[in-house]
Amino acid sequence: METLIKTGLLSASDADSRTLRTLFGQFATGVTIITTMAADDTPVGLTANSFSSVSLDPALVLWSLDKRSPNLELFRHIEHFAINILGADQEDLSNRFARPSDDKFEDVDYYRCDNGTAVLDGALATLVCRNERQIDAGDHLIFIGEIHHYSLAGGQPLLFHGGQYQSLAQTCSA
Ligand SMILES: Cc1cc2nc3c(=O)[nH]c(=O)nc-3n(C[C@H](O)[C@H](O)[C@H](O)COP(=O)(O)O)c2cc1C
Repeated sequence: METLIKTGLLSASDADSRTLRTLFGQFATGVTIITTMAADDTPVGLTANSFSSVSLDPALVLWSLDKRSPNLELFRHIEHFAINILGADQEDLSNRFARPSDDKFEDVDYYRCDNGTAVLDGALATLVCRNERQIDAGDHLIFIGEIHHYSLAGGQPLLFHGGQYQSLAQTCSA
C-alpha cells in the first residue's frame, strides 16, 4: 500500500522547547497538587498537570516530575504521596505551589494522614498513593502510584490549556 506523506507535518527534531511546550499545551488537563511529608514532618508539594489515570485493577495513576526539582530526591525515596485534584476556585493555590518557596503551606489547610503524607483540604478528590514505581523519561521522572486511600467531594474542576487556566463552559438551562 502506498504511504501518504501529509505535507503539514513538521520534523520534531527541529522543534525547540518553546514549540514543544505549545504543542503539549494543546492537550487540556486538570490541575493537581502533589503532596507528601519529609522525614522532619515538613509538608512538601508542587503543582502538576502531568497526572493521568493508568489502571483500574490494580488502581494505578501516574505523574511526572522535572528532574531539576529540588524535591526530586525526596519524591524518589518517599513511600507515599497524595494527588490533590483542584477545583475551579483553587487557581491561587495552584500558582502558590507552582513557585519554589519554603512556605508554600503557610495558611493552607492540610492534614497528616496515617501513613505520614500531607493531604490538602478542599480538593475535588484526593488519591493517597504508595510510591509504587518510577520510570526514567528524559528530563522527567515518571511516578506510578497505587491508590490506597481517597476522598471524593466533586465539583467544578480547574483546567489548564494553552498555558492558561480555563474553566468549563457553563451551559445555560433556559
Ligand atoms: C498548571 C501547571 C502544571 C505543572 N505541572 C508540572 C508537572 O506535571 N511536573 C513538574 O515537574 N512541574 C510542573 N509544573 C511546574 C511546577 O509546579 C514548578 O516547577 C514548581 O516550582 C515545582 O515545585 P518545587 O520547585 O518546589 O519542586 C506545573 C506548573 C503549572 C502552573
